[in-house]
Amino acid sequence: MRTLILGIAGAAMVAVAAGAIFLFAQDRLAEPEAPRPDAVVEVSGAEIGGPFTLTTHEGERVTAEGLIDGPTLVYFGYTFCPDVCPIDAVVMADATRILAERGIDVTPVFVTVDPERDTAEALGGFVEAMHPEMVGLTGAPEEIKAAADAYKVFYSRVEQPDSAIGYLMNHTSFTYFMTAPEEIGALFRHGASAEVIADEVSRVMGAAG
Ligand code: NI
Repeated sequence: MRTLILGIAGAAMVAVAAGAIFLFAQDRLAEPEAPRPDAVVEVSGAEIGGPFTLTTHEGERVTAEGLIDGPTLVYFGYTFCPDVCPIDAVVMADATRILAERGIDVTPVFVTVDPERDTAEALGGFVEAMHPEMVGLTGAPEEIKAAADAYKVFYSRVEQPDSAIGYLMNHTSFTYFMTAPEEIGALFRHGASAEVIADEVSRVMGAAG
């Protein structure tokens, strides 16, 4: 029994390590250009955002209009992600805390690109560990696709037949600052720090008066 448990733990660790290397390689493939001046992407005039109807981690149906009724940070990822998504979710939560200290209330939103595994319950455990105000969103595959399309998010399933995790999701990893359902205020690449996000959001909010 002990050997079996150790064997499973070992296999899981190898799977996680392989996943991390895989994602690192994917990032390199997806973003060959370097260096960048910083993690803030120019968005003036960009058409990003749009309508969606999804289900929160508490099981409520919400629309973009209903949810994004104030400053909102949005991220598309999945809770099984071995490294990138948990890091970005922590950064989004930290940025939310920094902004709250400055008197700017933003709602952090984590939208899954893996609705098969990210049920409302699975998302609940994830977002509640990140920030008490974080909203997890899931839905039917076509609902997720519609939301992802609105945000120009790309994702695809990558089978991992030799791994305990089964499959990974290859996906873009931007953090969106939305001031309205169809109005983007700022866009951040993976790697943006909580301070960089908070400073840019503060700047945009200040400019908006
Ligand atoms: Ni991820």
